[in-house]
Amino acid sequence: MRKLCLVTTGVLALTFLIVSISLLVARVLQKVVDLQVKQEMVLRNGTDVFEMWEEPTPPVYVQFYFFNLTNPLEVLNGESPLVKEIGPYTYREYRPRVDVHILDNDTEVSSLNPKTYFFEREMSVGDPEVDLIRTVNVPAVYAMNLASETPLRFPAEILLFIYNEDMFTTHSVHELLWGYTDRFLNALHKFRPDIDSEFGYYKKMNGTDDGEYIMLSGAMNYLDFTRIIKWRGKESLNWWTSPISNMINGTDGSTFHPLIDKDETIYIFSSDFCRSLYLNFEKYVMVDGIPAYRFVPPQKFYANASVNPDNAGFCVPAGNCPGAGLLNISVCKQGAPIFLSPPHFYQSDEQCVRDIDGMHPNKEDHETFLDLNPLTGMLIQAAKRMQINVYVKKLPDFVQTGNIRTMYFPVMYLNESVMLDKASAQKLKSILLESSAITNIPFIIMVLGILFGVVFVVLACKPLQGREEGSEDERAPLIRTS
Ligand SMILES: *[C@@H]1O[C@H](CO)[C@@H](O)[C@H](O)[C@H]1NC(C)=O
Ligand SMILES: *[C@@H]1O[C@H](CO)[C@@H](O)[C@H](O)[C@H]1NC(C)=O
Ligand SMILES: *[C@@H]1O[C@H](CO)[C@@H](O)[C@H](O)[C@H]1NC(C)=O
Ligand SMILES: *[C@@H]1O[C@H](CO)[C@@H](O)[C@H](O)[C@H]1NC(C)=O
Ligand SMILES: *[C@@H]1O[C@H](CO)[C@@H](O)[C@H](O)[C@H]1NC(C)=O
Ligand SMILES: *[C@@H]1O[C@H](CO)[C@@H](O)[C@H](O)[C@H]1NC(C)=O
Ligand SMILES: *[C@@H]1O[C@H](CO)[C@@H](O)[C@H](O)[C@H]1NC(C)=O
Ligand SMILES: *[C@@H]1O[C@H](CO)[C@@H](O)[C@H](O)[C@H]1NC(C)=O
Repeated sequence: MRKLCLVTTGVLALTFLIVSISLLVARVLQKVVDLQVKQEMVLRNGTDVFEMWEEPTPPVYVQFYFFNLTNPLEVLNGESPLVKEIGPYTYREYRPRVDVHILDNDTEVSSLNPKTYFFEREMSVGDPEVDLIRTVNVPAVYAMNLASETPLRFPAEILLFIYNEDMFTTHSVHELLWGYTDRFLNALHKFRPDIDSEFGYYKKMNGTDDGEYIMLSGAMNYLDFTRIIKWRGKESLNWWTSPISNMINGTDGSTFHPLIDKDETIYIFSSDFCRSLYLNFEKYVMVDGIPAYRFVPPQKFYANASVNPDNAGFCVPAGNCPGAGLLNISVCKQGAPIFLSPPHFYQSDEQCVRDIDGMHPNKEDHETFLDLNPLTGMLIQAAKRMQINVYVKKLPDFVQTGNIRTMYFPVMYLNESVMLDKASAQKLKSILLESSAITNIPFIIMVLGILFGVVFVVLACKPLQGREEGSEDERAPLIRTS
């Protein structure tokens, strides 16, 4: 009888230990969980995943902060601008997938992704139609730069006088963002029909899409879920879409989606950057109880070309490199001298911060980041932050420029952010809970093994301390029932 108990506990302890260790070594349950995730990752009409893709629920907001210039006359006399930050003016972005077609036997999906902006009064400081901002007059600066190098100089000088255009101008927030007809541009338009008579930083962006996307559904391979293979007719892009930018990709494509790795480099492509931005793992974060990896642009991304030669491609003309943090995007803006930087020149050339009174760069408010859940690859939270600056300098041919210093004049910055909505967060949490319960099974078995091991040792050692019939009888049924 005693012998039987001893053998049974010994065998059970050993079995549980072997089973748990082999489960751990072979990662069987890890694979079960991965498989479960993989099976979800397909765009099939009628599924939750498809609905979520077609009509994403997490709200995306874009918030604008303007720099109101307080001392225009002094600036024209060569002093530093003193600016006051005014914002946020918040717009909700509605970005459904429309014109959806399922192609090629369910393996590909084509769609458009227009963005519509709705003003959110409660999340804003004021009324964009009413609030006025004094800032640099981009149409005038644009025309002066253009004219100083072409035979248009003389007509431009005359027109600037006729229309009484100055270096600085005052417009409502709504006009600056969504566009206004500039009398001066309108006149230039007659000489050069390719010059648009309207100006606005987000002009023609409301309700427009950025071209047709064709992506893989994931039906053939879960790793290809929503992988973009064609954009605007251009083949094999190998990117994924993301709520804060048009596209996103991982270093080798295979690992970004859906399982995230710390060594990953995440690329974001956005038409407003004119280039891709890359992000590296920074730290582990918890967002509302959901574990995530935070990815941020490395310091090196913004470094000047002498520190990071990769940035030399953005020195146009070759050798003409802007300082750290500044990106010359005039090519994308019809030649207007527009430069992007992080808000408040965070991580940028210190000279830029010194040139302007009112810049207070800090990591928390001005850094771009992306929080991804490592198990599912799901985006938990993200903020894309950038500032629009105008390069200004004295042009001897134009009195309007006065004695202005050469500098990058900040106009506004924006924060485009997204946060997983409550319902999706709840759903993700239960998936994570379920998967952690499954992956913990080997440890539970191991604990049982250890318990039986302890019982075995106690039983085996008992004879040395003398017999006690009662305790044996109590133990026997315990073992039989388990
Ligand atoms: C999905 O199915 C619904 C109902 O069957 C249909 O009306 C819709 O057109 C389908 N969508 C696509 C993209 O095929
Ligand atoms: C479409 O897919 C189904 C199921 O995956 C397969 O049986 C069928 O042969 C495919 N048809 C074509 C034309 O590829
Ligand atoms: C964008 O367009 C929609 C309708 O298409 C309109 O309701 C909304 O007010 C517009 N947003 C802005 C900022 O003009
Ligand atoms: C910005 O500055 C101008 C000129 O000083 C002023 O009229 C305007 O009210 C300011 N805007 C805001 C929103 O305070
Ligand atoms: C991701 O983007 C980078 C930068 O644009 C590119 O070099 C790389 O090839 C892309 N990776 C994939 C898998 O497309
Ligand atoms: C580039 O940045 C480094 C470090 O910030 C600085 O020492 C150097 O002077 C900069 N070079 C140019 C050309 O701006
Ligand atoms: C910005 O780039 C344009 C060409 O794209 C170039 O003509 C211009 O000189 C550059 N501006 C500065 C300040 O480097
Ligand atoms: C966006 O960033 C700004 C600062 O850059 C911050 O004040 C604001 O709270 C952020 N908005 C959201 C929704 O996180």
